Amino acid sequence: MELEEKYIALDKSLLRYYSYNIENLSKKMEIKHLEIGFGNGEYILNFSLQKSDEFFLGIEYSKKYFEKTVRRIEKYKLKNVKLLHGEAFALVSFLFPDNYFDFVHINFPDPWPKKRHNERRLININFSLELRRILKDDGKIFFASDFEEYFLNSVSIFKKSGFSLEYLSNSPNPERLSKTKYENEFIREGKKIFYSVLKKS
Ligand SMILES: C[S@@+](CC[C@H](N)C(=O)[O-])C[C@H]1O[C@@H](n2cnc3c(N)ncnc32)[C@H](O)[C@@H]1O
Repeated sequence: MELEEKYIALDKSLLRYYSYNIENLSKKMEIKHLEIGFGNGEYILNFSLQKSDEFFLGIEYSKKYFEKTVRRIEKYKLKNVKLLHGEAFALVSFLFPDNYFDFVHINFPDPWPKKRHNERRLININFSLELRRILKDDGKIFFASDFEEYFLNSVSIFKKSGFSLEYLSNSPNPERLSKTKYENEFIREGKKIFYSVLKKS
């Protein structure tokens, strides 16, 4: 597979290319961010515009959102952003080396509120352990949700898998340089939002 591709659509059949050298994507930029489930791309776009010397990789499995964000990134001619189309757990497990990212951003993951659907949730112990593996030693997760039960449950999973809670509030942590589409909607609706920062320990 050609390593210089800008945007890479990966489906299950392509995962056999997991020897893909992801390091070439970052062009050796030192600080590396990963956003999981970037939706319409508002957050990754705004964040990467403000941190143009840092590298941003986004993962999204909705084709519609992925393509929309590719168009936005193209428009701004951003050199420090790459996007992957696919399922986050599979991509994280197969593609990324240990101790690679400085920050993982997870904003408003689908809550799957019904108990019988809980297993569809993105954040579970295996996923959290993978995030720990790909983060550098002082790496951090920025995690936000409007759904209290999922939020608290996820924080507890992160703690069990080797993260310490550094920030917990209904106001955004100061390092958050953008809001997301969902976040803006929830704010308009007057919903309470839960923000956290978890540090690899
Ligand atoms: C509720 S939306 C939030 C979107 C965006 N983060 C925001 O706050 O506006 C959740 C997003 O995560 C994506 N998503 C959910 N599970 C995923 C997975 N396992 N792998 C990749 N993307 C996922 C969905 O397609 C959707 O775009």
